[in-house]
Amino acid sequence: TLRVPPSLSAKVEGSFAYLTIRDRLPTILTKAVDSIHRNKDKFFEQYGEEGLRAEKAAIGLLSKLRNELQTDKPVLPLVDELEDAEGWNLYLQRHEALQGEQDPVSWFRSPWLYVECYMYRRIQEALWLNPPISGFDAFQEAKTQSYFESQRAVMALCTHLEGLRKTVAGLPEDQLLEHFDRLLQVSLWGNKCDLSISAGQDNSQKTSPIDSLAELRPFILVDDTRSVWSALVSARDRGGPGRVDIILDNAGFELTTDLVLADFLVASGLARSVRFHGKAMPWFVSDVTAQDFTWTVRQTVASNHRFMSASGVQWQRYVREGVWTYLDHPFWTQPHPFCDMAADAPDLHAGLQGAALVLFKGDLNYRKLTGDREWAPTAAFATALRGFAPAPLCSLRTLKANVQVGLQPGQAEQLGQRQPDWMTCGQYAVVQFHSPPRR
Ligand code: F6P
Ligand code: MG
Repeated sequence: TLRVPPSLSAKVEGSFAYLTIRDRLPTILTKAVDSIHRNKDKFFEQYGEEGLRAEKAAIGLLSKLRNELQTDKPVLPLVDELEDAEGWNLYLQRHEALQGEQDPVSWFRSPWLYVECYMYRRIQEALWLNPPISGFDAFQEAKTQSYFESQRAVMALCTHLEGLRKTVAGLPEDQLLEHFDRLLQVSLWGNKCDLSISAGQDNSQKTSPIDSLAELRPFILVDDTRSVWSALVSARDRGGPGRVDIILDNAGFELTTDLVLADFLVASGLARSVRFHGKAMPWFVSDVTAQDFTWTVRQTVASNHRFMSASGVQWQRYVREGVWTYLDHPFWTQPHPFCDMAADAPDLHAGLQGAALVLFKGDLNYRKLTGDREWAPTAAFATALRGFAPAPLCSLRTLKANVQVGLQPGQAEQLGQRQPDWMTCGQYAVVQFHSPPRR
């Protein structure tokens, strides 16, 4: 039997997990507080005195949360009555039992993945306990701003897509592969633009990503594009194009790159349909919620830019016709590694089994695929997945955490010599594929 390595944790002083909890998370909380405060007048207009009371109370809860975090207090059970609260509290008990009484479950002592997810869930609690503003997204403004800051890059991408749309039907297979390869990389590098690694600072895409793909290529540490392509083509040639599921990461530029890829997959006959999976609550600052998804498509339609709006119209049509669907599931906003999905969210797991390909966008999804553990960089991806393989799957991820598997012997050492922070600087990426054993 396999010995599973320990979870990444802020216990290790100086580690990226430690620095995240010490520096980045408090900053993110402060920004959430600021955003709520800036909307004070709006709350007053909408809800009167009750809105002001709620604003104050929510901010009070968030300040208390920041204090708990900074002084490494024990993790507290949730007290709101959201559907998933009980699950979170059971999860806490599980961790308490594992750690034992000597070692309380706390911000700097427990698994990083768990406490980081827990922080976002507590932000939701602070709002939920204050009804008139419970639906407020404290990261909305940051997401919107980052979307607008990447406008030029979005235009360039939509122009590319509209050009492609005209020719894609008759393309020979080798050219189709070239286009696939390109748009997969655009979607991959779109993951650079998240607002969690930058603690909410501007991190948008300013230039056309298509022009820089060649320069970026050497930074892709594992490139399984060929296998991803084969999964789609073999499904297509077996029984017609299959369904692709995209487990989304960030709103803003990254989401647009995902929509462009999805459009290409359908237009080229590589996929019959696409299901997008987003988050049921604001998550890791910039992750896509239902509201972000709808907003982005509408915004694209409403653009003055001819090709942007043409793309948007097409996306709306896909949604209307059910070729594209947007879904969320509580599991995506829980702290579980994906190897727990079959047991903890069997409905979601069963649903994914119907896909020809599942694309997991971004760093957080990679951490959950690998359980956020201290794997040796040469450990096999299949090993780190610990049995999770509902369908052929691929991670498209820029590295922003100390976990990476599937590298060649010596590769990590070489990278470390060239750039000591290669795992967390966001400049490196992987296109990493795994397929379930044939049944
Ligand atoms: O806050 C840390 C973190 O989980 C990092 O691992 C990563 O920087 C970020 O948040 C989320 O990145 P992504 O949006 O790619 O999942
Ligand atoms: Mg994210």
